[in-house]
Amino acid sequence: MKEQIGYPYTMLPDDMFQHGGAGYGGQGTLCGSLGACSAIINLVAMDQHFSHNAIVADLINWYASATFPTSRFDDICRFPEQIKVSPNSPLCHISASTWTVAAGTNVDSYERKDRCAKVAGEVAYQTVLRLNAYVDGSYAPSAPGPSEATAYCLNCHGPAAFNNQQGKMSCMLCHSDHTK
Ligand code: HEC
Ligand code: HEC
Repeated sequence: MKEQIGYPYTMLPDDMFQHGGAGYGGQGTLCGSLGACSAIINLVAMDQHFSHNAIVADLINWYASATFPTSRFDDICRFPEQIKVSPNSPLCHISASTWTVAAGTNVDSYERKDRCAKVAGEVAYQTVLRLNAYVDGSYAPSAPGPSEATAYCLNCHGPAAFNNQQGKMSCMLCHSDHTK
């Protein structure tokens, strides 16, 4: 974008999203690659239809249902063919921890860093696919939305009823079902 469009993208420092690493300041909150790419989506696709929010939601839904790491970068990484795990969540903590345990390593290992570098690369790739479609006028969400189990909880906690819950993450990762 810096090369082909120029301003304002020439104003973005290369290290602008450095703070997103390890879920922002090492806190394991949102996966930093989702945060960084969401900022770019906001810059490119903000319009009166709130396309930027739709694309961010689609990217996050895609992330939670994907299996990581992708094989796309196996030719250029140090650890190709790593074990693949679906994070089921956009949170750095859940994404990184479930993979780390499945891989039998620890979070400071080079293997884990290689895995997360591949995650970041794939999130950037998926962002570019969506933004190119947006610019072509052909964008449509492609990731699966909330699961049936989550939709069940949102029947009562969502906007049509009590409306006391924020978000669309998979509820059962953190809560048990109090209706059973
Ligand atoms: C039939 C409606 C209904 C459904 C479906 C439902 N809830 Fe609730 N939920 C309630 C009501 C009413 C309360 C508040 C009263 C109470 O504590 O039971 C509540 C309370 C809660 C609380 C507060 C703490 C607690 O346990 O009381 C949490 C957390 C919660 N629900 C999560 C969920 C999740 C996760 C699901 C899906 C598995 C879900 N709920 C499905 C109606 C529902
Ligand atoms: C990443 C973990 C996580 C996910 C995913 C999650 N929650 Fe929660 N939720 C919490 C925590 C932690 C709290 C605060 C502690 C508590 O009350 O359980 C909370 C609080 C709540 C409360 C208020 C409970 C109270 O009594 O104050 C409700 C209602 C609730 N969640 C519903 C949901 C629903 C519905 C979903 C799915 C759409 C969901 N949550 C997804 C972790 C999560």
